Amino acid sequence: MISIVRARDYNDMSRKAANIISAQIILKPNCVLGLATGSTPIGAYQQLVEWYKKGDLDFSQVSSYNLDEYRGLSGDNPQSYRYFMNTNLFDHVNIDKANTHVPDGMAEDGEASCAAYDAAVAAAGYPDLQLLGIGNNGHIGFNEPDDHFSKGTHLVDLTESTIEANSRLFDSIDEVPRQAYSMGVQTIMFAKMILVIANGEKKAQAVHDMCFGPVAPSCPASILQLHPNTVLVADEEALSLCADELA
Ligand code: GLP
Repeated sequence: MISIVRARDYNDMSRKAANIISAQIILKPNCVLGLATGSTPIGAYQQLVEWYKKGDLDFSQVSSYNLDEYRGLSGDNPQSYRYFMNTNLFDHVNIDKANTHVPDGMAEDGEASCAAYDAAVAAAGYPDLQLLGIGNNGHIGFNEPDDHFSKGTHLVDLTESTIEANSRLFDSIDEVPRQAYSMGVQTIMFAKMILVIANGEKKAQAVHDMCFGPVAPSCPASILQLHPNTVLVADEEALSLCADELA
């Protein structure tokens, strides 16, 4: 079962999520965080930076593993997820960059690079807390709707819907990479706690199916119903199709 925390709006969602992440860091200063990109977590990252600057948080012993990266983009490309993480969080807190990990979008041997990423996450003991956004189509990381759930880190062909959704961050849709490396669903499920954040009506169907639909790879996030410790923090719009179930 997924615990649902209702937030008023994006800011409230972001603050609640940041509170949960900061509690994790305070309780276990050397925790492993699984981190996510996209528009959704930006507010939570800003809040964490603010608390760090106030002296309330210490990232010096934290390590992190990100979910995914576009294939073909290097870390200094502003559209890459490594660049996103540096500019939205890592550059502003005292995390040791050597302890931050993002799949290598430029790997020459993609398969070996994915296997090495899985081995590193496993050796770290898997995330204590995995932060997740959710795609409009129910994807987590870049695990797109499919006929099976993925296991480890792998190369993904992005769906048209994801390419279109993410094109807002590129100059044109032609520039959106068609492939990405993503941590697999099985690896995500190994996290000790999962924190999903969602806002806006575009996410309403995916949020409904994640929480209350059948557990099926057609909505990858639905597998989180089987995780023992998953919390969803979502705003009213994202929860708008769950009114009956939450009544
Ligand atoms: C992207 C990312 C996901 C993210 C999702 C939602 O494609 N790979 O990790 O959760 O889509 O993105 P956003 O938060 O911008 O809506």
